[in-house]
Amino acid sequence: MYTDKLLLVFMFSALNAQFSQTKYFLETEYIEVPLNHFAPSEEPNVFKLRYLINAEYYDETGPIFIYIGGKGDIFVQAQNSGFMFDIAPIFNALLIFVEHRYYGQSLPFGNDSFSSLKQLKYLSTAQALADFAFVSKYLKTTLSETDDRQPTVVAYGASYGGMLAAWLRMKYPYLVTGTIASSAPMFDFPGLTKCDTFYEKITQVYAEYGGEECVEMIKRGWDVIMASSKTKIGRRVFSELKICSKIETSKDVEKLLNWLQNIHVNMAMANYNYPTNVYTPLPAYPVKVFCDKLTSYYEISNKSFIQHYSRALEFYTNYTGNSLCNNINNENEDLTEIAWNFQTCTELISPRCSTENDMFVTNPWDYEEYAQNCNARFGVKDVRPEGAILAYGGKDLKYYSNIIFSNGEMEPWSSATVSDNVSDSIFSIKIPDATNQLDLRKFDPTDNIYVAETRKFHIHTITQWLENEH
Ligand SMILES: *[C@@H]1O[C@H](CO)[C@@H](O)[C@H](O)[C@H]1NC(C)=O
Ligand SMILES: *[C@@H]1O[C@H](CO)[C@@H](O)[C@H](O)[C@H]1NC(C)=O
Ligand SMILES: *[C@@H]1O[C@H](CO)[C@@H](O)[C@H](O)[C@H]1NC(C)=O
Ligand SMILES: *[C@@H]1O[C@H](CO)[C@@H](O)[C@H](O)[C@H]1NC(C)=O
Repeated sequence: MYTDKLLLVFMFSALNAQFSQTKYFLETEYIEVPLNHFAPSEEPNVFKLRYLINAEYYDETGPIFIYIGGKGDIFVQAQNSGFMFDIAPIFNALLIFVEHRYYGQSLPFGNDSFSSLKQLKYLSTAQALADFAFVSKYLKTTLSETDDRQPTVVAYGASYGGMLAAWLRMKYPYLVTGTIASSAPMFDFPGLTKCDTFYEKITQVYAEYGGEECVEMIKRGWDVIMASSKTKIGRRVFSELKICSKIETSKDVEKLLNWLQNIHVNMAMANYNYPTNVYTPLPAYPVKVFCDKLTSYYEISNKSFIQHYSRALEFYTNYTGNSLCNNINNENEDLTEIAWNFQTCTELISPRCSTENDMFVTNPWDYEEYAQNCNARFGVKDVRPEGAILAYGGKDLKYYSNIIFSNGEMEPWSSATVSDNVSDSIFSIKIPDATNQLDLRKFDPTDNIYVAETRKFHIHTITQWLENEH
């Protein structure tokens, strides 16, 4: 029965695929949740958490599919999670997208939420999970007519949100029957994953989609920039990059290199088989687009190389053609970045380094320096690199059940994800030729067979979870 419906849904999606800008219909709700789930307070201490609902496909026999918000605005994440909309009709599911505290509109102290540790200290994975559990419990209770048949909850999440969705199943199994965790870097913690794997994987993505020559030319770019930065005459080449501010000091050069490297990371993360707008509007396979442009170059002088490199980047930096100059200063860091930096300074410690083996500027991992920066930035004196491992078990997942970890093999984090089947109910599904979170995006006619098979596996497994509940 499910299979027939599935076929229909996919045919329907295929017909609609040409309208790639389709926006999913979502209603906005707010729910008051405790600011601190783990300690009493003197006064009522709650704030409004945002969640989005789509009940188009729901009937009272159906489950609740709850999307666990990660870093950023929940509305954007919901619009990029078309798989849940694609399969909701098969299960008559209610779709709920819950925002993570301190992101989007779910700010406990409004715009003041980031002023100091006094406000920020309620931003932790444990508090966020308790919010998600609180909402799950609330929905189960309010949607059931009788206590003995509450709707089943299946959790979904991607990237950091995928880690949370998995942890939610691990910590609150009585509330959540199973989890689909897409591209969740579960092992991106000290001692669990080597610090060089992230940038090595990205280099592999560039070699695969853009060719070795592209990798070599990107490396050459860093050398040219660093060599040129040493003299006043040399620094003239930087005008070719159309940066808004002057590049003079070594600090400016460092900023420039970070800005460029970030663009290369984002291109790899958004290297989808069709145009998307995740970080910025991008064509299909941006890595290939960039590399094709870059490797069409044959000149030798540093100046013309940088000019050419800059032109090759323009489809990313100057998509509209209206940008006067490139702003590389991150001083106007948005609230999402502040919240995320705080999390990476307290719990989500992910060692990163680049070496000779990758295409990035060589940079060692220095934990002491990292902890000092966090202290200077947020006044955090107890960065606990082992905190999340203690809380969530690190690589010891065999005690848990009902989680699918799906990972694109061509995504930057693939070496920090669960890469082996753990048990007969904790799966690792590897998706060849796919990048970050592709399986949770909506069906697209250009998706490869592996993505299609992964989605079928999700549907099959969710069906089993639901059947076992009743
Ligand atoms: C918070 O800041 C945003 C962005 O600067 C602004 O649009 C919004 O009006 C502010 N909200 C309040 C309550 O001050
Ligand atoms: C050009 O760049 C190379 C590195 O690729 C460097 O060795 C050389 O000194 C640079 N030339 C000038 C004139 O800056
Ligand atoms: C963006 O494109 C326009 C039109 O081609 C060009 O005039 C402008 O210099 C470009 N800006 C940057 C920052 O590349
Ligand atoms: C895990 O098990 C599933 C189902 O049997 C299988 O499709 C998948 O390839 C396995 N994953 C790995 C990494 O071996």
